[in-house]
Amino acid sequence: MNISPLQKERYNYCPKLPNILKKDISNIAIKLGEPTSSVANEAELKEIFKNNFGAPIAHLIEEKNDNASKKINVGVVLSGGQAPGGHNVIFGLFDGIKKGNKDSKLFGFLQGPSGILDDDLVEIDQKLIDEFKNTGGFDIIGSGRTKLETNEQYDRCIEVCKKREIDAIVIIGGDDSNTNAAVLAEYFKDKNSGISVIGCPKTIDGDLKNEYIEASFGFDTATKTYSELIGNIQKDANSSKKYWHFIKLMGRSASHIGLECALQTQPNICIISEEVEANKSTLNEVVNDITQIIKNRAKDGNNFGVALIPEGLIEFIPEMKILIQELNDLIANHSEYFNSLNTFELQSEWVNKNLTKDSSYVFSSLPNNIQRQLLLDRDPHGNVQVSLIETEKLISEMVEAKLDQLKEEGDFNGKFQAQHHFFGYEGRCAFPSNFDADYCYSLGFNAFILIANGLTGYISSIKNLSKGSDNWIAGGIPLTMMMNIEQRHGKQKPVIKKALVELDGKPFKEFKSKRDIWARETSFVYPGAIQYYGAPEVCDITTKTLEIEHS
Ligand code: FBP
Repeated sequence: MNISPLQKERYNYCPKLPNILKKDISNIAIKLGEPTSSVANEAELKEIFKNNFGAPIAHLIEEKNDNASKKINVGVVLSGGQAPGGHNVIFGLFDGIKKGNKDSKLFGFLQGPSGILDDDLVEIDQKLIDEFKNTGGFDIIGSGRTKLETNEQYDRCIEVCKKREIDAIVIIGGDDSNTNAAVLAEYFKDKNSGISVIGCPKTIDGDLKNEYIEASFGFDTATKTYSELIGNIQKDANSSKKYWHFIKLMGRSASHIGLECALQTQPNICIISEEVEANKSTLNEVVNDITQIIKNRAKDGNNFGVALIPEGLIEFIPEMKILIQELNDLIANHSEYFNSLNTFELQSEWVNKNLTKDSSYVFSSLPNNIQRQLLLDRDPHGNVQVSLIETEKLISEMVEAKLDQLKEEGDFNGKFQAQHHFFGYEGRCAFPSNFDADYCYSLGFNAFILIANGLTGYISSIKNLSKGSDNWIAGGIPLTMMMNIEQRHGKQKPVIKKALVELDGKPFKEFKSKRDIWARETSFVYPGAIQYYGAPEVCDITTKTLEIEHS
């Protein structure tokens, strides 16, 4: 096997655990708290999750416990988009399981949830762990986005688990995948299958978070990777002084990635989708604001700069949001007919006829390439694949047209040349930072404790993350506690509520207090690459978001 010197070195890294998880496994027990509720729609969710709704929060305490040494077999699934640290969740889970009982086994279902349905799995042994520990990627077992949603699929999961003598499934995923975990746990309990389901909070998007899940894993490494790249581009922009760089940043819905990268790098512009929505800004208004900043910098002789555009922006612009919702419902409700229209022209003609008048107007006014991108396949959870929509180009083209118009009117005499970038896949499989390596290992180890104590329908929770790992607090949160009802695929469905950027939250306020200065001046910060070895001040730092939120 060809491995880089860094990979070789990372194999020797021992991830850190919170103090409670360092105890002998027979001395870690669970203490259950008060019954819980959901974030909204309590009555409907109680009805849907008859068995699991209201389960109490689980706290880990130091107390004698014989459960941990029972022999158990666990199946693990990596679900959805890659996020740095996934391998370490499996590493921690493996170590926990084997510490409990060396005869217990861990199986990895291949290519995501479809691996369960296809009975496609490998046994994860020490050799495999040694090959993948502390590395990025999900290639140890692969990932996928198959949505488990029918009783036939759930029955098949039970059948496969029984055949393989699997007692518990760990689903490592984002909000959609953990919603799957909650539904599966409920079905398994209803059928008295004896199989438990535990989730782990993964997503670079950072939108699976709440009081108990302070951060989803992968956010730390991905944002540091993007910030390094943004910093490099800022250096380039400031050297040649001739380009405006429009950088689209991943994050399907929320703008946490953009906000974090802005706090790290201090670009001239960072659009926050949630603010655009709150202000009910139209696409034109967003473009006007950006144009104004470019104009102001040009007055100072600075015909260059950096603008960060969140990937999900398009869905937060009110007229676009309505259009996308209508398109989603239309396509979901007439999927067979829509798919039978085999050219873009036929599809857009049909769509235009069936949209409301306002949405049809918005759709027609978009450039052809954006119209095409809006009609592409939805993901299995019914989401528009915003990573395929070139919002950064749409915006920079509109800005250019505005500046041309201003030039004609004698109101702009600067220069404008744009470069476009999309940072997404570049950050999802980086070597996990020390923080993500430790956090993920702890999440996996903790998931084992929850399973060993017979819990189901819970997500592994490690709190107090802005403090050193010794002080992290481990526990289990009922998945139903994080749920509400939302419109998906044209239907009302129970889902885990996405955590968007809070406009009255500390990180956004910090950004808002600085952004006018960053817009006019050149205040770029160059964070450089993630450091794995050396001074703790550069190796063991958390994100600005966590630091500011918990300061
Ligand atoms: P998850 O929510 O599954 O973690 O995925 C998030 C994400 O990385 C988004 O930022 C992005 O829009 C999407 O995945 C891209 O999906 P794909 O990998 O299927 O292209």
